[in-house]
This record gives sequence, structure tokens and C-alpha cells, in this order.
Amino acid sequence: MTQPVLYLIACAAGPTQYVDDGVRAAQDDGWDVCLVLSPSAARWWEARMDELVELTGHPVRSQYKLPWESDALPKAAAMLVAPMSCTTLNKWGAGISDTLAIGLPSEAVHMGVPVAAMPYFNQAQGAQPAVARSIAALRTQGVLVLDGAEGGYASHPPKQGNQEAFPWRRALGGIRRLMSAGSSRGAAR
Ligand SMILES: Cc1cc2nc3c(=O)[nH]c(=O)nc-3n(C[C@H](O)[C@H](O)[C@H](O)COP(=O)(O)O)c2cc1C
Repeated sequence: MTQPVLYLIACAAGPTQYVDDGVRAAQDDGWDVCLVLSPSAARWWEARMDELVELTGHPVRSQYKLPWESDALPKAAAMLVAPMSCTTLNKWGAGISDTLAIGLPSEAVHMGVPVAAMPYFNQAQGAQPAVARSIAALRTQGVLVLDGAEGGYASHPPKQGNQEAFPWRRALGGIRRLMSAGSSRGAAR
């Protein structure tokens, strides 16, 4: 049986240094994982990008394709933006999709694809008024934002984050909940 495709979309936030852990956790959950990195996150992995390509079995994308290029990745059954940086959150909330990492989920959620996002930034970043506004804007559109209020990642005090302990499995649990909510809605139709 073919496995459903998950786009795991990672920003330049601390835990992305260990995004291979997130890929393995999703693969353990039965997903065929395609990894998308923001351009800044791709710089962090530049020297080891081959490892991520080998691990996922797909190209790792970080830039929009050129107009004459065809899609490099299979169609996604779901998307998980994790870790979501403060910058990506606020750009997405404002409707700015100048990176592929925002462009894919921002459109997908309006095409019926389940989309979850788990932020990772500190409390000083989170104190900016734009952050609460952006989270509300994403939720209004149907994105499952897994912050502290949703039993997801609650911001840490500055300089006290544990980047290696990012709760990948909790984030994947959010996607699972979205998928089963979608299939029970489908069954009720
Ligand atoms: C070493 C390093 C660690 C960072 N960690 C975080 C982080 O955990 N969360 C965050 O929101 N921003 C973090 N930043 C800042 C983001 O990388 C920066 O805002 C960037 O523009 C995000 O771009 P992106 O969302 O397109 O990946 C970090 C920057 C550096 C250099």
C-alpha cells in the first residue's frame, strides 16, 4: 500500500538543526515525508543536504520552482509546519508568501488539505502584538496552530529553549487528529 504524503515544512528555528529527528518520527507514523525548508533553514543544512535527500527519498525543496519547471514532489495528503518561526508565522498571518515554506501551506489550507503548525520561539518574541494576531488569523483559516493554548509548544523564556527536545510526536499527533476529523466529516456526508 502506498503511504500518504506529508510535507514537513521547517523554518530557521532552533529545532530545525535536528529536523532529521522529525522526519524519522513522521516516517515511524507511516508517512511518506517530503521535506520543505525555508531558504534560511536550507542554509543551515547546506553542507548536509544529501543526508536529508537520502532520508526522505525526495528532493528537499526550499525555493519556488521556475515557471517552466514541473512539480518536484508528489501531492500532499497533509502539511505540518514545524518548527514554525516567529517570522514565518507573522508573514503567513499577514498573507505574505514570499517563501515556498509559506506558499505551500497558505494555499493548501484553502484547498481542503489538513494543515497544522507548531511554533518554536521564545517568550520575548511571542510578546510582540503581531504574534497573537497572526495565530488568530491562521486559526480563522482552519490551520491547527499547536501553541500552548492547543496543548502544543508553549514558548520558552529567552535563552532557555531545548532545541533537541522539540515535541515532534505531539506535532504529528495534531496532524493525525486533523486527518481523522476530516475522514469522519467525509463519512457523515
Ligand atoms: C541560530 C539561530 C537560531 C534561531 N532560532 C530561532 C527560533 O528558535 N525561533 C524563531 O522564531 N526564530 C529563530 N531565529 C531567527 C530566524 O532564523 C529568523 O527570524 C529568520 O528570518 C526566519 O526565517 P524563516 O521563517 O523563513 O525560516 C534564529 C536565528 C538564528 C541565527
